Amino acid sequence: MAGDQRHRAQLAADMKRLEKQLRRLCQDRLRSADAKRLRVLDLACGECFEAEMLQRVLRQLAEENHGREQSLDVEFVGADIREREISRAAERCGAGRQGVDYRFLVKDGQKLSQDADLEEDFDVVFVRHQNYYLGGKEWHELFEQSLDKLAPEGKLVITSYFDHEHELAKGAIEKVGGDLIEDIANREARALATKGKHVDKRLAMFRRRE
Ligand SMILES: C[S@@+](CC[C@H](N)C(=O)[O-])C[C@H]1O[C@@H](n2cnc3c(N)ncnc32)[C@H](O)[C@@H]1O
Repeated sequence: MAGDQRHRAQLAADMKRLEKQLRRLCQDRLRSADAKRLRVLDLACGECFEAEMLQRVLRQLAEENHGREQSLDVEFVGADIREREISRAAERCGAGRQGVDYRFLVKDGQKLSQDADLEEDFDVVFVRHQNYYLGGKEWHELFEQSLDKLAPEGKLVITSYFDHEHELAKGAIEKVGGDLIEDIANREARALATKGKHVDKRLAMFRRRE
């Protein structure tokens, strides 16, 4: 298989594994505050390869949990501080179709509360491969802002590359006002070249402490 093709196949397999773990973690736990729309913020999303899978899975889980026949629409916002990644995500996903609206925004996750663009409450804030090792203080702020952006029954979901980094992020989230709901290990996660680093190795879900 050529390099490019192999890379695409790996990404697709990573996505299937992430989907399986999200179903495990989020089943029976998601509700949309609005009767018609599920609002998802994918923060620090980079190129946001998970956008399509994430909106589809979260929408299904929320619909099942509501026990409704009618479908929910999804308002999906992907945000990252890097412009290049956001324009690639926007190019790949487009504006959305079949009940999903995508918006990709260049945002500093430490300054969301100052942002008129992101006023709405989100049912899910998702942070994939948080980077606590690269700046703990910055991530404390980003997690605090993520919790602030949640609707009253909203959930913050994170994934991590490393066990230890995951523990640090969990501690940080609890410190800034999150309550851990569940923490799971992805035993099928793909190992990367760096020792101990795996794609979506750990996942955790939090609610905002009242
Ligand atoms: C390890 S990467 C993960 C990217 C993507 N979620 C993924 O799983 O491939 C961490 C991401 O955090 C973003 N980031 C770092 N600081 C940020 C901030 N203050 N606001 C928004 N995004 C930030 C980086 O630009 C980068 O895309």
